[in-house]
Amino acid sequence: MTLPWLDELQARLSDLDTRHQRRQRRAVQAGCGPEMVVSGPDGPRRLLAFCSNDYLGLAAHPALAAALGEGARRAGTGSGASALISGHHLAHQRVEERFGALLAPHIPNCRALLFGTGFLANTAVITALADRDTAIFSEALNHASLVDGVRLSGAIRHVYPHADIEALATLLRASTAVRKMIVTDAVFSMDGDLAPLAELLALAEEHGALLLVDDAHGFGVLGPGGAGSLAHFGLRSQHLIYVGTLGKAIGVAGAFVAAHEHVIEWLVQRARPYVFSTAPPPALAYAIDAALDIVGGASGDALRATLALRIARLRAGLDVHPWRLLPSSTAIQPIVIGENSRTMAVAAALLADGIWVAGIRPPTVPAGSARLRVTVCAAHSENQIDRLVAAINEQASNDRSRIERSC
Ligand SMILES: Cc1ncc(COP(=O)(O)O)c(C=O)c1O
Repeated sequence: MTLPWLDELQARLSDLDTRHQRRQRRAVQAGCGPEMVVSGPDGPRRLLAFCSNDYLGLAAHPALAAALGEGARRAGTGSGASALISGHHLAHQRVEERFGALLAPHIPNCRALLFGTGFLANTAVITALADRDTAIFSEALNHASLVDGVRLSGAIRHVYPHADIEALATLLRASTAVRKMIVTDAVFSMDGDLAPLAELLALAEEHGALLLVDDAHGFGVLGPGGAGSLAHFGLRSQHLIYVGTLGKAIGVAGAFVAAHEHVIEWLVQRARPYVFSTAPPPALAYAIDAALDIVGGASGDALRATLALRIARLRAGLDVHPWRLLPSSTAIQPIVIGENSRTMAVAAALLADGIWVAGIRPPTVPAGSARLRVTVCAAHSENQIDRLVAAINEQASNDRSRIERSC
């Protein structure tokens, strides 16, 4: 006799198939880079990849790999315990101090705290600070980790429409909650645009609210020295809580929270994902340290300049009508196609051409706005960008012809 639960799961999986929402993993061999070798039914294939968040091309950088190896030789592979028991290592401390110093121009009395992932960091901050007496004002396009943090916290939840400052101001004015927190991505992960952080901060200050900024896609890429979105907008306030993640432009893994020292000390004492989770391997902190040397130095500036050139080349070359290239200046360049099935068919056609671009469907994006999420890296060559542009333009042109024929 089968367990009814398993039958139900099988039916739900079939339903995902019907709605073209069943997702698949591909096993990558060797490192992340512009060209990736992936396992397939007919053996390994080399693909030109535009789907990673490795914006500066550091994920397979030899200096980071060497630092990781050195860290493992000195400190082993595991931290052995949560940070509050015995898992906090000098290497963790060193990078926390670097993050604290980096964000100090933007947050008075700034201190930073390292987490195993950005997902953990976001849920930790929100659940440690917000409770039933807190009203949270959450951007409609926020990342799932912020959404889940808000749900877990039990706070009063207000979702404001994407980038709609007026709507947010109205909600804030109407709220009688004791504590208020505005929560936003800095760079929207599926749209690539930037949140209006200066306006959000002005509202936070006016209403005595905290402003939590998730800069997963900005840290390392935006602002002088890659210091992130607060540096990009030139902001400074004790209302700011900043989350930078380390698995994207920084090329390693993990995240940090930077905030006023009282906030950070409260997280150390009370944030459950911090208190009750094994500290990240110290060796990762060695690699993060090496990445920060690159990101904050002259080679980081050169990588960001190259990235900007590649983004501009892509946008100048694309001709995607009847689809829509969203107005993004970041490395995330979404092309909205609409239907799930059509989006996945285009992604499959690109793949047949040896080009790997992620097709993104609901629930990651709203229904009817399935898209190709093209991500550009500094490591892409001009030729590689041109190859992508030609392949996407050809697919769009096929769609144009199909529409003309059906008229
Ligand atoms: C906006 C945003 N925030 C947070 C995260 C989670 O970070 P991490 O991958 O380190 O868990 C991601 C993506 O992974 C993201 O895109």
